[in-house]
Amino acid sequence: MVEKLELAEPHLAGWLSSLGLGVEYIRSQGNTLFYRDDQGAEIPVLDLVGGYGSAILGHNNPEIVAYAKSLLDQGTPIHAQFSRHPYANDLAWKINRILQREFGTDEHYSAVFANSGAEAVEVAVKHAELDRVMRLAELAEDIETHLDRAHAAVRSGAHVAGDGVVELLGPEAESADAGDIARLTDAIRIVNRERMAARPVFLAPEGSFHGKLVGSVQLTHNVGYRAPFTALAARCRFVPLDRPDVLEKIVAEERRTLLDLIVEDDVVRLIERELPVICAFILEPIQGEAGIRVLDQDAVRRVQEVCATIDCPIIVDEVQSGMGRSGAFFAGSHLGLQGDYITLAKSLGGGIAKAGLTLIRGSRYRTDFELVHSSTFAKDSFSTLIAGRTVDLLERDNGRAYRLAAERGDRLLAMLGRLEEEFGDVVKDVRGKGLMIGLEFHDQSGSTSGIIREQAQAGLLGYLFAGYLLRAHAIRIFPTASATNTLRLEPSVYLTDDEITRADKGLRGLIAVLRRQDGETLLHA
Ligand code: F0G
Repeated sequence: MVEKLELAEPHLAGWLSSLGLGVEYIRSQGNTLFYRDDQGAEIPVLDLVGGYGSAILGHNNPEIVAYAKSLLDQGTPIHAQFSRHPYANDLAWKINRILQREFGTDEHYSAVFANSGAEAVEVAVKHAELDRVMRLAELAEDIETHLDRAHAAVRSGAHVAGDGVVELLGPEAESADAGDIARLTDAIRIVNRERMAARPVFLAPEGSFHGKLVGSVQLTHNVGYRAPFTALAARCRFVPLDRPDVLEKIVAEERRTLLDLIVEDDVVRLIERELPVICAFILEPIQGEAGIRVLDQDAVRRVQEVCATIDCPIIVDEVQSGMGRSGAFFAGSHLGLQGDYITLAKSLGGGIAKAGLTLIRGSRYRTDFELVHSSTFAKDSFSTLIAGRTVDLLERDNGRAYRLAAERGDRLLAMLGRLEEEFGDVVKDVRGKGLMIGLEFHDQSGSTSGIIREQAQAGLLGYLFAGYLLRAHAIRIFPTASATNTLRLEPSVYLTDDEITRADKGLRGLIAVLRRQDGETLLHA
């Protein structure tokens, strides 16, 4: 048979094949994916990628599959837009109850539905901008009322205090009378109009990953993903979280004010009001693509303090870290990081459906958002019901799944820790929380092997390792997208001791080959 010309992302397909990753999986169950070898035999592969963290309850979880089948058998109307969706409300309530429990709050969060992680992030971004624009309009209206009031006050005898006025109007405004107040308010309006036109800016920690759509990719630090598209969306400034001085400097640089007048004891005074120009601070409680890095508690506290000072909402992106992976439903709950917005996706769909969700703190929620945002597929009954069942399964037996994530994660981390101890020459670091774990290797761009050196210099070292582990040890593992020396492990909560032993054996194999600097084996074994 003539080989069919590859049309589905042909470059990617070729690249995967060159590393030995171009395998077609035909079946999956739990932490195992199966492919067929040349003789037609099914080969099981231990999957530590876990659908990039979207299978917290395993591939094709039998209970979720049975539920999905029952929905289809019943003829559940999957797409009935603009009708009552009680199951969506049920899901929002289930997640609200968990949020209230984990953060010890009685606040409510409204839920807006999406189809993917990047979309959930963009819902948060879009809502934050709508809220900012509406706050800005409210502020402008407020100021307009104050300017009229000041005008009236000066006409009935109040005088204008000089502070700041001179800079605005020039020296002749030193003691403004009724005529001058008109000039003053006009000048304030001109200044304010210009300042209000400032484009919004977002802040995010260095290393952030929030998706690859037009808006979310600008919140993603990796310059390769972001740079070609900067003209398409709002600007984001990336903050080194370990440098409090830089955080403060960036915020100070971006802060803007509007001018306003207040009347007190027959004196009209020029004051400045905070202009909401920093639209939101977005962060992952455990950075995924940056190489699995749990945020530092003190750094989180500093971000919260700064954001509270300028009334800047915080978007907590739990797309990868949420849904129990960290040992709690919300990874932010380990850090007291509640967020004004919380995004969920990946495992929300139970490894079967495509579902995303953005939770928005009730006190910030703008119902107008519902008039300007929608998606054909979001909130469909299938994905929403599957998400609801997935949450039920996580919560079952008093949250057994969270305990498993913590306990299995600790065991996996301990195994990797031993590798670091024994082979510190190649293993640089092991870190993570629950079932979100990173295994970082030392840089190999000065390797004596041409193959290893080349792949390392191209930023593809982790993929070279992935190909070897798959071919030689039937283990599926990938690096994190923006830190490719780090392999990430995100299996399901049902990870067994045997599977950990298999991972140990495979990784020891990899380490041995690497210590021999045997590039040939890594690429071709
Ligand atoms: N936010 C975070 C924290 C993510 O890790 C991802 C995706 C997204 C948003 C975007 O979600 O792909 O459904 O649009 N992370 C992928 C990964 C790329 O490799 O784990 P998406």
